[in-house]
Parts: sequence; C-alpha cells; structure tokens
Amino acid sequence: MLIAGNWKMYKWPSETAAFCGGLWERLAGTSGVDVVICPPYTSLAEAVRPFDRTDVAVYAQNVHWAEEGAFTGEISTRMLLDLGVDGSLVGHSERRQHFGESDETVARRTVAALEAGLRVIACVGESEEEREAGQTELVLRVQVETLADAVGAHEHLAVAYEPVWAIGTGKTATPEQAQEAHAFIRSLLDVPLLYGGSVKPENADELLAQPDVDGALVGGASLDVESFAAICEAAARIRS
Ligand code: PGA
Repeated sequence: MLIAGNWKMYKWPSETAAFCGGLWERLAGTSGVDVVICPPYTSLAEAVRPFDRTDVAVYAQNVHWAEEGAFTGEISTRMLLDLGVDGSLVGHSERRQHFGESDETVARRTVAALEAGLRVIACVGESEEEREAGQTELVLRVQVETLADAVGAHEHLAVAYEPVWAIGTGKTATPEQAQEAHAFIRSLLDVPLLYGGSVKPENADELLAQPDVDGALVGGASLDVESFAAICEAAARIRS
C-alpha cells in the first residue's frame, strides 16, 4: 500500500519541518505502508531533511523533461535528485486543467523522470461531463495508453486514478466506481494504482479495501498530521 499526500500550493517552508516531525512521531510503529509527501518546491528541502534515512519519501508535484535549459518556471530531474527528492507527481488534473498539460507532455515528463531514477505517480481521470457522457473508459484509455506506450509497466511508476469531479469537492467515487475504474486501468497498464479524490479517514477503509486499489493520493486531508496519519493507518490495517 502506498499513501501519498499532495499538499498542492499549501504550507510555507517554516511549517514543513514541524509537520514532518509530527508525522514521523505519529507513524512510529506503523508498518506495511509506504508513505510519500509531495510538498511545493519551496518546501522540498525542509521535508527531505527530517525524512532522511526514514521510510517516508518526498516527491515533487511536477518535473520537467530536460536536465536543464531555457524553461523558465520549470524544475528538472537533476535539480530534484540533487536535493535528495525521491520522485514526482506528474499530470495532476490541476496541471492539465489550468496549465495546459497534455497526455504528450505528461508522457515526456514521466519518461525523463523514470530514466533519471526518480519514482513517478502519474495522474489520470475523467471530468464530470465526460463521466455523464459515458466517456469514462474512453478518456482513461487514451490517458493510460499514452503512458503505457511511453514507459510500460516500469517498476518505479504508479498511476493515480483521480476523477476530476471528486477532487476537492467532498464528492468521493463510491468504492464500486473506484474498483471499476482501477480494474479497467490495470487491464491497460499493470502498475500500483492509487485512488484520489476527497479521500478522508472516514472513507479510506472501504476505498482501500477494493482489490485493485493499492493506495491513495490524498489532497486536503494530507495537510493535517492527524488525518493523514489516520489514512496511513487504515492502509496498514488492510494489508496486515
Ligand atoms: P483531495 O485532492 O483529496 O483534496 O480531493 C486529491 C488530489 O488532488 O490529489
């Protein structure tokens, strides 16, 4: 089980060390779950330090495909590795929606990150209109096949299924909807599959209990040590 916390554009560097210390203390004794946190770039160094030589991994929220170059505002694989960062999210729906990320750029970022030795959680998911129009599988097929063609079932790749209508809305996919989408994704690309979209301590158990759900990508509930730790504990319970 893999539980990743996506902080999005929250938490200053000065808040990060206290959070990491608190999380580490709170998770002492929890086993059977891989924990990842994805702070904003400005907090990565603050997060890497306390988790150095622990099992908690630190990922960025995005990464560019070039090692360096004239790409204002972007961050390269080399920069992340130099800082001691373990991996990166790629293709989050907020990047796709607001910053023009396409399946092609998601694939380029993923290939470069994996080749550089970073781990990747690549995000896919349909919008509300696409689901209502009965296009969920079509959309997932295009997104996942682009990744599968680019990198295949790479051992450092995980995919997060995040239905866009469930992100930050409090509307969670039902465990059945999550399972159905995950089974479909797995038929295209067999890598660890995380569910994301309003995951909270109250719904984590039943989502994580689904046979094709291998973990969760948690947004809002990852900003609080107590709720994030409770989700990590739910994952540990299920696999023990
Ligand atoms: P949420 O976000 O848990 O706040 O819905 C999930 C995500 O965007 O990764």
